[in-house]
Amino acid sequence: MQIGILYSRIRKDEKLLLGELRERGHEVAKIDVRKERFGLESTTADVADLDIVVDRCLSTSRSLYATKFLDSYGVPVVNSPETGDICADKAKNSLALARADIPTPATEVAFTKEAAMEAIEEFGYPCVLKPVVGSWGRLMAKIDTRNAAEAILEHKETLGHYEHKVFYIQEFVDKPGRDVRALAVDGEPVAAMTRSSDHWLTNAAKGGETKSFDLDDRALDLVERASEAVGGGMLGVDLMEVGGTDSGEYTVHEVNHTVEFKALDAASEVDVPAKVVDWLEAKAAAAADGEAAEAHT
Ligand SMILES: Nc1ncnc2c1ncn2[C@@H]1O[C@H](COP(=O)(O)OP(=O)(O)O)[C@@H](O)[C@H]1O
Ligand SMILES: [Mg+2]
Repeated sequence: MQIGILYSRIRKDEKLLLGELRERGHEVAKIDVRKERFGLESTTADVADLDIVVDRCLSTSRSLYATKFLDSYGVPVVNSPETGDICADKAKNSLALARADIPTPATEVAFTKEAAMEAIEEFGYPCVLKPVVGSWGRLMAKIDTRNAAEAILEHKETLGHYEHKVFYIQEFVDKPGRDVRALAVDGEPVAAMTRSSDHWLTNAAKGGETKSFDLDDRALDLVERASEAVGGGMLGVDLMEVGGTDSGEYTVHEVNHTVEFKALDAASEVDVPAKVVDWLEAKAAAAADGEAAEAHT
């Protein structure tokens, strides 16, 4: 099978994936998005014959455009540009979750600091302000007082670029010092872990301590539905436990589309790259079947 990896930097995650693909004897085409040019009809790289391309771009804008172009050439690509579009933006992400009746933290978006201030005062303190585009816990603010709110909003409005002028305000969820990250492929869970920290941001990238976690039925159902809500693919679903670790109640705060899995692979007993490659093989085979069926009609 010929599998393309669209990347800008080969991190540990990509190494794990490449190692597993090569071990299974697949031909891998590494496509460096920084060197690539995408025309309206074709690309400079020889991607047309690839069975599937996996988008592993670090940069959201590159990821969104490159997958869109590949998709338009008829190359099977994961994740799809549609899924990327929703997951890359926290506002679209929240809307998709809410429309699918998935519990998600109360959220409002406002476009001026006055309107944002009104929302913040209504949520009360603490509440959370997030950039609509971003990851690894960057530029997130837990707002404890009105003074802090005013300062942050003024800084964002004055110094922030375009995306930071969309104020995404969220209720603060009193989670039990950890949150849950589940990796799923088309809704099927691969593995899950908790990320614990004394800090309110528990991201592994922020130093959150990771530990394997068994998803209960409720969490399994939410992961499956959250995946479907954003159009499926290989996704990292982030959940917070509401009302303590034994409550069995969750709220889903986001679904990630170019998901890292090295921390999960290290924390869990599951061979994460093997499961991901199983899924890629199945996806590529299904895409080939679909093409063959189309050729017959
Ligand atoms: N509304 C919230 N209440 C409490 N903690 C939150 C809330 N939203 C996010 N967090 C914490 O911040 C971390 C990062 O938030 P998240 O929305 O996942 O952004 P990122 O895309 O940067 O990972 C989460 O893993 C969680 O620990
Ligand atoms: Mg997150």
